[in-house]
Amino acid sequence: MSKKTIVFGSTGTLGKEIINLEKNFIYPTHSQADITKFDQLSSFIENENAYQILHLAALVGARACEENKENAYLTNVIGTKNLAKICSAKNIKLIYMSTDTVFDGDKGNYNEEDIPNPINYYSFTKFAGECYAEMVPYHLIIRASFFSPNNFPFNKALTDQYTCRMPVEELAKEILLAINKDLEGIIHMGGERDSLYSIIKKFKPEIEKMTIQETGLNLPKDLSLDVSKWRIIKNGT
Ligand SMILES: NC(=O)c1ccc[n+]([C@@H]2O[C@H](COP(=O)([O-])OP(=O)(O)OC[C@H]3O[C@@H](n4cnc5c(N)ncnc54)[C@H](OP(=O)(O)O)[C@@H]3O)[C@@H](O)[C@H]2O)c1
Repeated sequence: MSKKTIVFGSTGTLGKEIINLEKNFIYPTHSQADITKFDQLSSFIENENAYQILHLAALVGARACEENKENAYLTNVIGTKNLAKICSAKNIKLIYMSTDTVFDGDKGNYNEEDIPNPINYYSFTKFAGECYAEMVPYHLIIRASFFSPNNFPFNKALTDQYTCRMPVEELAKEILLAINKDLEGIIHMGGERDSLYSIIKKFKPEIEKMTIQETGLNLPKDLSLDVSKWRIIKNGT
């Protein structure tokens, strides 16, 4: 039986783009393989004879996680712990989708060696997930942030949060490239540094301005990433 790649979280924004680009992976739904249910998850992975897993499943977003801490912990921390345990036991590679928000946003231009310092619950759960993923002998942690150019779901965007957010289709292509190159460790991916407002305005001219203070959330100010390591790998020089 041939060895397979399984993608968890494939019905989400990023997962749908991966499906568009790659038809040969296995894409279970949440109900077919719930990452919080160890026995169900373990049997699914065993039956599919996986050799690598792309883990995109999460409860995503600062507000969603502040308001549903129990579910955020269960999904993002315990779910990732379950995958890490299974991958370690079965010698499967775990590719974990992380986020720029593991950093506190005080300095910006974060590289792979900078020390994470999550400042809200979502970021904490994603960093805890990273710690489990890092325990898997064969792993890749991708930190990035993205947006859907044709479907930005808000009427306002932050003028005082700087990021390297990239269009989701581009990120999906880069993730598949990193998988094909069989990278290990931690890698940062991203586009040009700018305010979220300026990035989104190029695709949605009617977007309105908003500040971090107006959200009522504790959000990092400068989440820009140093992506030079990935650029060198990608371009081969
Ligand atoms: N969105 C961003 O800007 C951003 C930035 C950086 C990193 N990330 C990371 O990128 C990944 C994908 O983000 P996204 O925006 O595409 O997420 P999304 O659209 O919210 O989708 C989340 C996916 O996870 C699945 N899921 C949730 N709980 C699950 C469980 N217990 N078992 C199995 N599947 C479960 C969901 O399935 P159901 O809908 O059926 O529950 C859905 O397919 C996440 O790890 C996120 O932390 C996102």
